Amino acid sequence: MIEKTKTENRRKVVVAGAGSVGATFCYALAQSGLADDIVLIDKNEDQAKGQVLDLVHGQPFFPTVSIKVGTPEDYTDAQIVVITAGAAQKPGETRLQLLQKNATIVGGIAEDIAAHQCKGVMLIVSNPVDVLTYVALKRSGWDRGRVIGSGTVLDSARLRYLLSKNCGIDVHNVHAYMLGEHGGSEFAGWSMTHVAGIHIDDHCEMCGKCSDWKAERKVIEQEVRDSAYHIINYKGSTHYAVGLALVRIVAAILRGQNSVLSVSTLLDGEFGINDVCLSVPCIVSQGGVKKIIRSPFSKDELASLTNSADILKKAIDELKT
Ligand SMILES: NC(=O)c1ccc[n+]([C@@H]2O[C@H](COP(=O)([O-])OP(=O)(O)OC[C@H]3O[C@@H](n4cnc5c(N)ncnc54)[C@H](O)[C@@H]3O)[C@@H](O)[C@H]2O)c1
Repeated sequence: MIEKTKTENRRKVVVAGAGSVGATFCYALAQSGLADDIVLIDKNEDQAKGQVLDLVHGQPFFPTVSIKVGTPEDYTDAQIVVITAGAAQKPGETRLQLLQKNATIVGGIAEDIAAHQCKGVMLIVSNPVDVLTYVALKRSGWDRGRVIGSGTVLDSARLRYLLSKNCGIDVHNVHAYMLGEHGGSEFAGWSMTHVAGIHIDDHCEMCGKCSDWKAERKVIEQEVRDSAYHIINYKGSTHYAVGLALVRIVAAILRGQNSVLSVSTLLDGEFGINDVCLSVPCIVSQGGVKKIIRSPFSKDELASLTNSADILKKAIDELKT
């Protein structure tokens, strides 16, 4: 085996924030064999040390990969920096206070990444992901394609899973996207949804499984929106599926896959929306978002997208005051 020694040839992924989501992502990434180097950074160094030690003991079972605790110097030659750092909501703390706290954390990390002359892509995961993607973009000063949020990639997976279960069709034969805000105003892009290669409207008309498929769809869409709350109520946080969703995004970037993913990206006039980050179908490849797909949304979908944009702009404005 020829070992890769030159740093520029190595696929290096740095994760800022070694909590549940950061570590679960590293675990899934190590198993995927996509990265040569995985580096974990946390302001609580013991936290990063503990996660790394736990992960490296899996080395005999992973494809060859280096996993270590890092420092901000590691940002310089990273192909991707994934930001999962954040503070949890404290009792009595308002949503805005939490937003301000996380904006300070993520904005500071984004500035640090830019200061270390990183040439890669920043992938924001910390919540509220759309607002924090906007903050990271502005604070880094990078081009919009290189600062992206995980957006509704996880929510789209949840939608595909629920449709698959409902229709009795393999999830890999269900193409569907949740769009807009990663949060309460997100919506299913039904105009883009295909089951078994058939547009969902035609599929539902033919299938006859649901007595009222239009009503059933609304139930499924709401279940996607409520998914995170259900999991958090049961066990406190979500980390497995988001870890896999992050591997999917990272694969598209490292392999230059041109994958269509609903990542959060800055809109600059697309769909009549400006200066806000939210999820729309994007072509993701080396360098991040290569292109925003101008999907011919229905009138209702466009209204939902605009509603998400208005909600997110309000949060961004609150942050500025
Ligand atoms: N976008 C999504 O789909 C999605 C899904 C699940 C969770 N999340 C979000 O991911 C974030 C992380 O969740 P978690 O469960 O891993 O939380 P966690 O509390 O387990 O981990 C957060 C980590 O960030 C670290 N941290 C805080 N400030 C830092 C700084 N300045 N630099 C480096 N590290 C710092 C903390 O020490 C902690 O280890 C949260 O904001 C959560 O809401 C997003």
